[in-house]
Amino acid sequence: MRIIQANDYDHLSELAANYLIDKIQTNPAIVLGLATGGTPLGTYKRLIKDHELYGTTYKNVTTYNLDEYVGFLPENPNSYHAFMYDNLFEKVDISTENVHLPNGSAVDLVEECKDYEARIEGAGGIDVQLLGMGSNGHIGFNEPGTSFQSTTQIVELAPSTREANARFFGDIREVPNQAITMGIATIMKSKEILLLVSGESKNEAMRKLVEGEVDESFPASVLNNHSHVTIIADKKALSGVTLR
Ligand code: PGA
Repeated sequence: MRIIQANDYDHLSELAANYLIDKIQTNPAIVLGLATGGTPLGTYKRLIKDHELYGTTYKNVTTYNLDEYVGFLPENPNSYHAFMYDNLFEKVDISTENVHLPNGSAVDLVEECKDYEARIEGAGGIDVQLLGMGSNGHIGFNEPGTSFQSTTQIVELAPSTREANARFFGDIREVPNQAITMGIATIMKSKEILLLVSGESKNEAMRKLVEGEVDESFPASVLNNHSHVTIIADKKALSGVTLR
C-alpha cells in the first residue's frame, strides 16, 4: 500500500481529485467505483470545478457505486442515488445510462445483488475504486466480521455506522437498518483502489489498517492483500501511526 500524506482535508481532496482526473484523462472510458459519505465530497467538488474550468469529460466514463440503503427509492433525498446526482453526476457530462448504483428498492433484493455483481463483471470490472473507511474499519457497508469472500450482498448496518450517518438524516431513527453493498471480494477485484482517510476520528482505524493484522474483524485490513492500493490520508488521520 502506498501512503500519500496530505496536510489537511482540503489538500487530501486536491490530491485525490488530481489522481482521478489523471486516470480519467489517460483512459476516457474508465470504469470507476465510487463512494458516498463525507470524505469524498471535497474530491467531487474539485472534479466538478475541473470539469467546468478545463473540460475533463465524463461522456465515456462508467461508474458503479459501492452501496445503497435498502428500501430507498432513487428519488429519496437521503438515498445514495440522490447523493451522487447532487454532488457529482448532475454537474458533469456523464451519461445516466453509464451510472450504476445498487437498487435498494428492488422487489427481489437477492436477485439485485447477483445482477449488480454481473453488471460490474460485464463492464470488464472496476478500473479504479474510490473508498472511504468507517471508524470501525468498514469498507462499503461491509461491517466487522464480513467474509473476505463476500460478493454484493444485503447487510445489517452496525449501530456505530447508523450513528455516524445520522448526521445526514437529522434523526437516527430515519437511518435504515440494512443496505446493499459490494462485497469485500467485489472490492478486491478492482484493478486499483484509492482509499481516502481524513480526521482524528479515523486515527485509530488508520493505525489498525497499517499496523494491525489482516483479519475479517477489521474489514479494511484486506487492502493489505491487494497489489495496487493508494491511500491518501491527512495528518490528523495519520497522527501517531507508524508507517512501514
Ligand atoms: P465518511 O464515511 O466518509 O462519511 O467518514 C466513510 C465510510 O463510512 O465508509
